[in-house]
Amino acid sequence: MKSLSRTLCAALFFILIPLIAGAQPPVRFLESKKVFVLAGGGVSYVFGINEQGMLQHIHWGKQVWRDDDFNAPHSSPDWDVFDLTTTTTPQEYPGWGAGLYVEPSLKATFADGNRDLVLHYASHKIDGNALTVTLKDIERALFVHLHYTIWPETGILRRYATIENRTNAPVVLESAQSGAWYLPQGEGYRLRYLAGRWGGEFQLNEEPVHTGLKVLESRRGSTGHSMNPWFALDRDGNADDEHGSVWFGELGWSGSWRISVEQTPHQQVRVTGGYNSFDFGYSLSPGETLVTPPFYAGYSDEGIGGASRILHRFQRSEILPNGSGAKTRPVLYNSWEATFFDVNEPGQIALAEKAASLGVERFVIDDGWFGRRDDDHDGLGDWNVNPKKFPNGLGPLIRRVKELGMDFGVWVEPEMVNPKSDLYQKHPDWAMHFEGRPRTESRNQLILNLARDDVREYVFHWLDDLVTKNDIAFLKWDYNRNVTEPGWPEVPPARQKNLWVLFTKNVYDIMDRLRQKHPGLEIESCSGGGGRVDMGILPRVQQIWTSDNTEALDRLTIQQGFTYAYTPHVMMDWVTDVPGFNGRSVPLRFRFLTAMQGSLGIGTNLNRWSAEDFVLGKQMLAYYKSIRETVQNGLLYRLASPMKGSFTANQYVSPDKMQSVLFAFLHSQQFRRTLPPLLLHGLDEKAVYSVTQVDGKLDTKAPATPMKFSGAYLMNHGIELDLVGDYDGVSLKLERISEQ
Ligand code: DGJ
Repeated sequence: MKSLSRTLCAALFFILIPLIAGAQPPVRFLESKKVFVLAGGGVSYVFGINEQGMLQHIHWGKQVWRDDDFNAPHSSPDWDVFDLTTTTTPQEYPGWGAGLYVEPSLKATFADGNRDLVLHYASHKIDGNALTVTLKDIERALFVHLHYTIWPETGILRRYATIENRTNAPVVLESAQSGAWYLPQGEGYRLRYLAGRWGGEFQLNEEPVHTGLKVLESRRGSTGHSMNPWFALDRDGNADDEHGSVWFGELGWSGSWRISVEQTPHQQVRVTGGYNSFDFGYSLSPGETLVTPPFYAGYSDEGIGGASRILHRFQRSEILPNGSGAKTRPVLYNSWEATFFDVNEPGQIALAEKAASLGVERFVIDDGWFGRRDDDHDGLGDWNVNPKKFPNGLGPLIRRVKELGMDFGVWVEPEMVNPKSDLYQKHPDWAMHFEGRPRTESRNQLILNLARDDVREYVFHWLDDLVTKNDIAFLKWDYNRNVTEPGWPEVPPARQKNLWVLFTKNVYDIMDRLRQKHPGLEIESCSGGGGRVDMGILPRVQQIWTSDNTEALDRLTIQQGFTYAYTPHVMMDWVTDVPGFNGRSVPLRFRFLTAMQGSLGIGTNLNRWSAEDFVLGKQMLAYYKSIRETVQNGLLYRLASPMKGSFTANQYVSPDKMQSVLFAFLHSQQFRRTLPPLLLHGLDEKAVYSVTQVDGKLDTKAPATPMKFSGAYLMNHGIELDLVGDYDGVSLKLERISEQ
């Protein structure tokens, strides 16, 4: 019944309303030309069926309102005897066969050893804003269903493929991608991507695209810290933060992934993404299907700033659990850096009481509460409450936390096992391994083979039990190592490599079932910090642990990189103790202001705080609560980059332009240089805004408090900030008070 009414609503939205309003539906098939047009959010994506039956790309970029402008596609000619039409034609989903030398979307070996795959159009179906085009090999019953969706508000496109084996023998897929994106033909593109390592995630890299192939990837079995599955390309390398054309995309996969950015000798830039083809070999039995990861992409003509604002909006409204209006993130306290493994009932209660006095809304106990977990050598796998640390279970702590007006969360690392644990002693075969080979430990732990149904069920049941028996609102779901020895000796050799895909699909399955059974439960994705952030995990979690590096200065760079690809709504940051990651001691105020630029948490040892620290902390939390809607759900403008100098500034504007929040940080002053006026963005030119400062007094040079300025003044003349010395920071709250 529910799904029927949903279908009717969708039909009303995508078919009837456009018809009544005289507008065109978001997906159209121009029958006479055999051309598909997907349009919305100021973007058109156009491709067609050429005379050979190939699916040929035509246009992706700013919207072309006149469908008649697009002609039936004709395959590109052989360039010479070395570059045949298969290679020169921009195919939406090329199989490897018949002279394809660019990156294939699908490569297969049939049971008889045949490895030629030529995919041609078979049929299609349009359903509102979704289109499915089915391709088939020219001779064999291997089908590929290409799924396209366009979101009319943002112009974001999603593509993925379902590969279906209708032959009567197994087929091994050696590369299974979600599709190829084509940029307007030409040279001079610049690629941006996010790379890093543990403690230094999300660093923005920029480089020119030259002829050849650049691979962004993880071979680690998870998304990884070293690269994130996001890219952005701009034309002529001249698009600054707020201007120019940018094409961008990100993959929804938390296992090994790959995005290749390729410029052909014929000046065609193409981006292919999906499962990492390294060590890939997915065996499809007759009748089986494999679904590739969703690959999302979009276009902005407002520079990289516009591109990230489109992504943020899309993630909040379409990707995050609860969809539109994803719940406001609470301020949390996490005890990890205060107590590490040394957790116990009185100690955690003492911290909870102090956290509550600051205005914290959620108390989270981190690692160390279970099994024989006194350090990282034991405990993983034995998810019973440690009786020495919590003789009465977690109940008394949870009750106290709730009395204090907070809800309760707990740390788990479900995919892991310590060899010393009881679980491993009982089921050594449950860990990934190759028979007779050493099992490489990392942080003294191994990875459970969740590709196995019995292991998946075991993990689901203990998690379900934990959440059912305790009043738990939140899980911090951690994952602290990468895959080694991805063996699965219990299944026939031909199917062992299916582990790469099934492991991650089963992690998703556990999360999905758990959330379905416990609808109020919230999850944070953590993998030693930001090692598992992607569009595959985002629909399943409410927030992300951005990095284990909580040092404020480093965080400015990490957070800047993060927001190119992901909304600040999910970006969790804690205020922690000093000295931090680099041995630097940044003032508490600067630490708070840094952490407030996404979802705020506190991770300090509150037992060591002075009375003044508590006064400042309360003030900061109250201020954060007055601006968090704008920070978490507003439009972000990056005004000054921490990577380009000693000054960082970010501005957030609420969608209705009623509130804006500015954060500005001077890392280190030299030569007593003063800052030039800072030009704000996104305000209403005609409105007047009152400007107040985070802790009540104004640091700006103008005398009156609160000050009042027009949007036009703030955006065209700018606001002066009086920041001095090292680690000086300020936040200004702008509130619209009148039209003139
Ligand atoms: C790694 C996480 O990133 C930390 O925040 C903490 O939860 C530890 N694991 C606990 O082992």
